[in-house]
Amino acid sequence: MIYAITLMFGPYEMMKRSLEQFDKTVGLGDDEFQHILVDQHYPILRESIKSLIAERGEIKNTLVVDPGKNIGLANGVNFALKSVPLTNDDLVILFDPDMNPITVGWGRAMKSVHQEKSVAWTTCLFDGAKSDMNQIGKGFKAVTINGIDCRKIVAPVINSCCMLKASFLIASGGAHESNPYYGGFECHMWPYLVKNNLSWVFLEDYWEDCSWPELRCQNYAEYKVATTHGGEKQVEFTEWVMEKEKKRMLERKRATEGWCPDSKAIRLYDLILEKKPKVIVEIGVYGGQSLVALAAAAEQIDDAKVFGFDPYNDEECQQYDLNGSKIDHGKIDWVEIERKARETIAPYKKTKLFSLPGAYA
Ligand SMILES: C[S@@+](CC[C@H](N)C(=O)[O-])C[C@H]1O[C@@H](n2cnc3c(N)ncnc32)[C@H](O)[C@@H]1O
Repeated sequence: MIYAITLMFGPYEMMKRSLEQFDKTVGLGDDEFQHILVDQHYPILRESIKSLIAERGEIKNTLVVDPGKNIGLANGVNFALKSVPLTNDDLVILFDPDMNPITVGWGRAMKSVHQEKSVAWTTCLFDGAKSDMNQIGKGFKAVTINGIDCRKIVAPVINSCCMLKASFLIASGGAHESNPYYGGFECHMWPYLVKNNLSWVFLEDYWEDCSWPELRCQNYAEYKVATTHGGEKQVEFTEWVMEKEKKRMLERKRATEGWCPDSKAIRLYDLILEKKPKVIVEIGVYGGQSLVALAAAAEQIDDAKVFGFDPYNDEECQQYDLNGSKIDHGKIDWVEIERKARETIAPYKKTKLFSLPGAYA
């Protein structure tokens, strides 16, 4: 049996297209492989991801497993493998949902290379690996296995879509990585290859990059950059994404004007994520200091919408004290305040700001 494991993380549309590519190109017979989707509880657009998992779960030979939270690459793989009756004769495909080969038949080609006993790991050769191989100490030897041109590497390089012998994973005690959240899988597995005199080869002709960078969301791209392959982040994943977004929101808030200290912005942000409202309305936006907190949090909730209203006009905004006297706020440049508010919330697609005369129409 060939088990293909996909850890489900990333924006919905990107994963959807990627998995459709997988269906088209892997090229193995139906009965000889099973796709295992691991629900890693990726926090961005969680509801959409859940529906994609449900859709994909309906497809023949697809199994969905759920470790309950993001447990990283190695543990995600191990969790998936524990859910099936794995034997030494099986093969395991690791298929990332963000970047994948589009050459038809890559799975079959890998399977054929795995007929060679000493090969424990095959990967479709992609640009990132090529540049790693070109660096000193990360060279390779050209070999042909079962008619397929390969590069046998002499030191670990970055991995992507690959197939591993289950016997290798079993002998190694499962997959390992140095960083619990997607880091150093290649380097950590390398000693097990060396110890058992096994090789890792890259298939020359089975990759054309398909990564849909336009579909990656910002959080996701940054997360990958910060933690994969030698990154230093070791916090719980969900918390990390949320903290990152909160920090960015606070920076934007501080760059504009208003009455919203950090503590209030954080409280608003957390409250929105806790209550997950679909419609959020702010009356009285000024420079957008509090609106930006609502807007940033709403981005992370499926189908949420934020509406801000402000007249941006002296007459409409006149305040009175309890004795009915006008409060003098001094001269306010409303045009500039409104411009700042709009600039502040511009990155947030789910947020709309209404000013007069449209505001109360
Ligand atoms: C004290 S500021 C608060 C700004 C923002 N919420 C913050 O925390 O930074 C009050 C805002 O309410 C707006 N405002 C006053 N009367 C309003 C009304 N009737 N409808 C909507 N906004 C109003 C003013 O233009 C001003 O921008």
